Amino acid sequence: MRLVSSIDEMQSLSRDLCKQGKAIGLVPTMGYLHEGHLSLIDLIKQKCDFTILSIFVNPAQFGIGEDLEKYPRDLNRDLELCREREVDLVFAPQDSEMYPSEYSTFVQEEDVGSGLCGVSRPTHFRGVTTVCAKLFNLCNPDFVALGQKDAQQVVVLKRMIRDLHFPIEVLVGPIVREPDGLAMSSRNQYLDLKRDAALVLYESMLAGRKIVEEKGVRNAERVKAEVMSVLTKNSVIRVNYVEIVDRSTMRPEREVQPGHSLIVVAAWLNEVRLIDNLAL
Ligand code: PAJ
Repeated sequence: MRLVSSIDEMQSLSRDLCKQGKAIGLVPTMGYLHEGHLSLIDLIKQKCDFTILSIFVNPAQFGIGEDLEKYPRDLNRDLELCREREVDLVFAPQDSEMYPSEYSTFVQEEDVGSGLCGVSRPTHFRGVTTVCAKLFNLCNPDFVALGQKDAQQVVVLKRMIRDLHFPIEVLVGPIVREPDGLAMSSRNQYLDLKRDAALVLYESMLAGRKIVEEKGVRNAERVKAEVMSVLTKNSVIRVNYVEIVDRSTMRPEREVQPGHSLIVVAAWLNEVRLIDNLAL
């Protein structure tokens, strides 16, 4: 497995791979890898001859006062996990090369990223689309694997790929959960004693899904109220949003459309912000 941190080297390697006719797959990550990330490697390896995993804690997607400095990092551990999963190349660029001084170009999607997480994190998706556009230019992937854990990110990046004509097919991997149901996340590291409280996110969505499946409820307000009633039982949790949305547009819906709708939840547990979603 090769480790590349230089942008020039990455670009010339990916050009060579294209010339050789290899199908390149990219799994973009911010590192501190867990089974959720690793499942995306397995997914992309089914389609590609050459698998690149990028590790870059992208400053542009963190807002002021967010957790950029304390975001967990462990490159050696990540490299070991990538080796075990037979990644061909890890691309781990430096901040100073990705965003040199006087950096001033950003990519912004202006529709599907504006609601939900876009409200409380107004510059977040601009950072995600910018860094992904850069990674796509550097790695030339034919396929990109993204996790359903970040449902809105998937919709935003698919829109950017379409709008900017990147010749890339997106593969979406299902949410990988801990045995108790907590969605895996590098940020779970922060939870410590608050783990049980974090589990309430998943439990609240299950309660919402239950009344859809067992009682045939279709009214989105009623499903949201059910989710909220479970979430607010725990006083440590501050709800950011609970919505029923169309999974391909992230627009709120009045009626649940089984097979198309998602329950999406974001909540604060003290200073830790958690997101999760569940298909209806
Ligand atoms: P990061 O949070 O490291 O996640 C990298 C990829 O792993 C994303 O596609 C994310 O949805 C997926 N992922 C995370 N947890 C998962 C889980 N429990 N199950 C399945 N997939 C999961 O998302 C980012 O980084 C960044 O925004 C990035 C796209 C790399 C741009 O900087």
